[in-house]
Amino acid sequence: MGRSSLYVCQTCGAQTRQFFGRCAACGSWNSLVEQVVTASDTRRRRPVASSAAAAGAGGGALGATDLPPRSRRSESIHTVGERPLQRLGSGYGELDRVLGGGLVPGSLVLVGGDPGIGKSTLLLQSAEAMAARHSVLYVSAEESAQQVKLRWRRLGGDGSQLQLLAETDLELVLQELESLRPAVAIIDSIQALHDGDLASAPGSVAQVRECAAALARIAKRQDTALLLVGHVTKEGMLAGPKVLEHLVDAVLTFEGDRFASHRLLRAVKNRFGATHELGVFEMRDRGLVEVTNPSELFLGSDEPSAGTATIVACEGTRALVVELQSLVSTTSYASPRRTATGIGTNRLHQILAVLEKHLGLPLSRFDCYLAVAGGLEVEEPAADLGVATAVVASYRDLTLPPGTVLVGELGLGGQLRPVGQLELRLQEAARLGFRRAVVPKGSGLGPMAAGIDLQLMEAGTVAEALVMALGVNPADDRA
Ligand SMILES: Nc1ncnc2c1ncn2[C@@H]1O[C@H](COP(=O)(O)OP(=O)(O)OP(=O)(O)O)[C@@H](O)[C@H]1O
Ligand SMILES: [Mg+2]
Repeated sequence: MGRSSLYVCQTCGAQTRQFFGRCAACGSWNSLVEQVVTASDTRRRRPVASSAAAAGAGGGALGATDLPPRSRRSESIHTVGERPLQRLGSGYGELDRVLGGGLVPGSLVLVGGDPGIGKSTLLLQSAEAMAARHSVLYVSAEESAQQVKLRWRRLGGDGSQLQLLAETDLELVLQELESLRPAVAIIDSIQALHDGDLASAPGSVAQVRECAAALARIAKRQDTALLLVGHVTKEGMLAGPKVLEHLVDAVLTFEGDRFASHRLLRAVKNRFGATHELGVFEMRDRGLVEVTNPSELFLGSDEPSAGTATIVACEGTRALVVELQSLVSTTSYASPRRTATGIGTNRLHQILAVLEKHLGLPLSRFDCYLAVAGGLEVEEPAADLGVATAVVASYRDLTLPPGTVLVGELGLGGQLRPVGQLELRLQEAARLGFRRAVVPKGSGLGPMAAGIDLQLMEAGTVAEALVMALGVNPADDRA
């Protein structure tokens, strides 16, 4: 077929016919990656070999030169024809939200997630919903057609026109895509596909990259929206080469606590929409169900208890009211234990140090545990004031007045810093019936804030904020 393998150093670009652990040219270790060279490829590319665009083509990433040959002349941006983006609804509002409004024809979307989290379930349900209006091909490279059918039955599949192909051979998958020309194709998973022209095992860097590049070419050519399932490694990275993330148009991650029923879908990269959008689902017997009002998921019981505080976190354009729980108890270890679930431990250490220094609380003699309700990961510093309040409330055994939310970032000097999207956060808190909010001073609320039915308390320092939130001065030993 005129195809052969080459090993290309990812550091210096040197090529050899044989695999070596160390590149003979630049001396770097483990940098050689197998690549296929097709005789027809070289023939096709030769006429443009001198152009700058062709220089990058040897890397195997999908460059402009991989697209079918069209006019190679540049043109004024004004004369480029405009086509309105026709997005395909995925059948799930939450998935559409994360995609930026739906699937774009000809785009590649990578959906990553831990084993067993529900990637196949999400995509099969969505495929079923889309098959009612478009032609959809579901390629299962990991499970047999029987297994997929069983799942489809369990998820309540009915007489839709969904096409199914259980195949791992890339060549056959490409043939099927070419003959069916579906509007949407789902590949579950990219790591299980296998290009017979490469000697390396399925899932290896070379295999994943070649398979994805071949699929990308065909998707762009025939305007098929491709959804690829990708695995996540032990370290939580999307398995396979980083180039896969560069090659696709959007990278979504599906995550969640395996012991809890809700699942979160996020966009890490999106060429057709905003990133950090959040979609929330709940895993039930009959499959994934959308959660359109997720704040209720992350709020604990109605009964306030000592050591809990409520914050408003922002995920993309969505504000979530989330409960934090803290437990502070005398330590019996030489160095106290600090455990945080859903918030970085370093962040907790920093907040404890600020409280110790600026409020004089002897927290280094206490163990401190902190958890975000519902298993949500809160990364943004706007949660700092909530963490500090939960810790101090547990330390002093105090209960916050009901209906209070806390928003603010803590500076190392004990000051409270303004946070972004404050109006959005306050609106969500007010919508859920909260009545008081402690926020940083000088937040500069816009005119929208006028309509928010919340009692705002502005604090300049964490000490002030704690007095406002708890109603007593926690630094006072009689509190
Ligand atoms: N019979 C069943 N009844 C209820 N829930 C089920 C049933 N079978 C599977 N599930 C749920 O579906 C989840 C597995 O979903 P799915 O196979 O879609 O995950 P996945 O991310 O594709 O996994 P993998 O990485 O192995 O492909 C299980 O963790 C379980 O919660
Ligand atoms: Mg699966």
